[in-house]
Amino acid sequence: MKEINTLDDFDFQDRTVLLRVDINCPLDRETLHIVNDARIRRISQTVSELISRRCKLVILAHQSRRGKWDFIPLDQHAKRLSRHIGREVAFVDDVIGEKALAAISGLQPGGVLMLDNVRNLDCETEKRPMEEHAESVLVKTLAPMADYFVCDAFGAAHRSQCSLVGFQGVLPSAAGRLMAKELFTLKGLFDEPKRPSVFIIGGAKFGDAIKMVDNVLRRGKADTVLLTGLAGNAFLKARGVHLGDESEEILSEELTSENLEAARQAMRDHGPRIILPVDVAVDDGGRRELAVGDLPCEQPVIDIGSRSVEKYARVIHGAGTSFMSGPAGWYEKEGFESGTRGLMLAMIEGGGRSVVGGGHTVGAADGFDLSDRFSYVSTAGGALETFLLGKPLPVVEALKHAYQRDKK
Ligand code: 3PG
Repeated sequence: MKEINTLDDFDFQDRTVLLRVDINCPLDRETLHIVNDARIRRISQTVSELISRRCKLVILAHQSRRGKWDFIPLDQHAKRLSRHIGREVAFVDDVIGEKALAAISGLQPGGVLMLDNVRNLDCETEKRPMEEHAESVLVKTLAPMADYFVCDAFGAAHRSQCSLVGFQGVLPSAAGRLMAKELFTLKGLFDEPKRPSVFIIGGAKFGDAIKMVDNVLRRGKADTVLLTGLAGNAFLKARGVHLGDESEEILSEELTSENLEAARQAMRDHGPRIILPVDVAVDDGGRRELAVGDLPCEQPVIDIGSRSVEKYARVIHGAGTSFMSGPAGWYEKEGFESGTRGLMLAMIEGGGRSVVGGGHTVGAADGFDLSDRFSYVSTAGGALETFLLGKPLPVVEALKHAYQRDKK
């Protein structure tokens, strides 16, 4: 049954279309250059199609979060997109000010404009329902200049932020090609996962990961969870391991006493179904591995060790479905790619269905030249996890709302 509009449902010619995408990319820590633009590549089909249908296209997107080292403007993103679509993508360092409005007014059919990082706006970082976001300064300013809203930001579909859910309250709205494809493919893969189903949870956003571990085990989506990355460090700490001051400092940003207790509870509830690293790697002028029993260590833990990779690989080889969200360590750093790479190879060689998701994870898979060997590569990390849990995705719910309203 049809629940949302797609690009097939509207005639965009000569109309102004606001397109929200998720092109949040991994950056090089020193140069702040984009190191992997898979998410930009994956939205270029929607962009090219809209241009060829002669609309005036205004792109809204975010990069990272305010206060984080990789929170940067989107000029590089515009250049990368331009390369992928073979057309100029104008960029304006503004979102709702005079400069942005003048640039939007000046667009011609077939023209593309990227606005700056939407998370510069206070209203964007507030989590509110669609109706309230429809009243935000962002929506009130941009919606009157547009005819349609298209959302292709599957990677951010779990966020109820105003550029993601506010416009559906006031404009005819559709899912872009990437969003439609991700929803369709992932439903096919995970409605009935082949058992056993093994989730490998890592990356840096471990506050979200802690809840996720409990949820996927409780709901039977995963039979076993293997922890890596900062999520693994957080669970080790919850188990009473003192990692060392630097590692704990890195964790302190998100590791509240509440989510430490949640991690402890998850380990009590699920016992051996949650597996933690047995060794780790630190940067000691080069890679140095040490057993978890030999921690604390002065240098920060930035990868899982090779014994952990071997142990995890044995579990992954027996899996019917394996899913990785978040790299196992700082894979961009020479000598520290082996945790992430080793687990990815185990997923591929294991022969079960293998799915990876998330900006950094996909960046790693591309960097290792492994992307083509997985059953599916999703642009989404957190959104995919929410989807897998069968929880509603606010962006999809808002698109459904717009569809119901407009079909009357
Ligand atoms: C992601 O990378 O998961 C999305 O871009 C959402 O980013 P966020 O977790 O900062 O909201």
